[in-house]
Amino acid sequence: MEARRVTEHVQWMGAIDWHRRLFDSLIPLPQGTSYNAYLVEGSEATALVDTVDPGQSEVLLRQLANVRRLDYIVAQHAEQDHAGTIPQVLARYPEAKVVATPKGKAMLIDLLHLPDDRMTTVDDGSVLSLGGVTLQFMHMPWVHWPETMVTYVPEEKLLFTCDFLGSHLATSSLYGESDALTVAAAKRYYAEIMMPFRRMIAKHLAHLGDLDIGAIAPSHGPIWGHPATILDAYQDWVGDTPGNLAIVPFVSMHGSTGTMVQYLVAGLAARGVEVHPFDLTVVDLGELAMAMVDAATIIIGAPTVLGGAHPQAAYAASLANALRPKARYAGVVGSYGWAGGATKALVGMLPALRVELLDPVEVRGKPRDDDFAALDRMADAVADRHRNDGLL
Ligand code: FEO
Repeated sequence: MEARRVTEHVQWMGAIDWHRRLFDSLIPLPQGTSYNAYLVEGSEATALVDTVDPGQSEVLLRQLANVRRLDYIVAQHAEQDHAGTIPQVLARYPEAKVVATPKGKAMLIDLLHLPDDRMTTVDDGSVLSLGGVTLQFMHMPWVHWPETMVTYVPEEKLLFTCDFLGSHLATSSLYGESDALTVAAAKRYYAEIMMPFRRMIAKHLAHLGDLDIGAIAPSHGPIWGHPATILDAYQDWVGDTPGNLAIVPFVSMHGSTGTMVQYLVAGLAARGVEVHPFDLTVVDLGELAMAMVDAATIIIGAPTVLGGAHPQAAYAASLANALRPKARYAGVVGSYGWAGGATKALVGMLPALRVELLDPVEVRGKPRDDDFAALDRMADAVADRHRNDGLL
């Protein structure tokens, strides 16, 4: 991919990683991703905002072939998929300095061993003039590391946001093929990466409201030509009000827990609760995380294995606890052979969730009539709470 013009002073550079399917050895990438860098050229100086994943360094270095002088490399985020090519760019441009927040500088030294004398730090609100075009730095910690910042170019009404407001989406289209496709990818990205920091993000969104933004240029996925599309979506995702949705991530070994989940799912639907089961043996974790963005209730279906929860269910609980969704209610259902334990183990794995725990339904063997009655009571409890909260 060649460099592309974004505005008078700004060119897109970077790499489209069409075939990458896993990030951080954890996050599925069904649609690939991109690593965007942006060249900002003023009459007196030139800056590169972010670089690319080290596996794609050659792509960026080729795009920079005709750039004779580079004064600054703005490292908005120290993670390697954006900062990993800084060493090669520094080597090519001996005059260039890396610009980062103070925390960013320390992390870049730790992660990439960048030389101290090639770096400079900027405070929140600092301005760097390149001659006819200006970079304004806004510290925005915890999107999604502690050192992150965004960069505003007032002359172009352009906001660079690195991971924030981005999406894992490989596309040849600079602005995305459709808003719906890009928003869906951005929601997946938010769910997997940003959701644990939603309260901090809500404050950052309020600060962005002070800017006149014509376009948002993240360092993953397409540019947002209509910023309200992604800003409004984020306002919804970070808000405290969930949807009328119950999700049921589950695993079943011999069918009993599966039977309970099927019965519960039908009961919730019959009571007007939107419900989505996720079979943890085949689930795309991104789909599960996306559902957690909206869910008011999370009920885990898990058999007991060796006195604790089935490891797949423990994984789902660990994920929910780490992502800290806005859910208000949680529960556990499941079967055991000779001794229970899954419920206690799973509840103990959710300390970060601010939820009301519903009465669990843990049964010996195959569920009987009184077990189904207990599942009916659980479905009643979920529907009542959603109704009382104005969600149903
Ligand atoms: Fe895209 Fe946090 O790196």
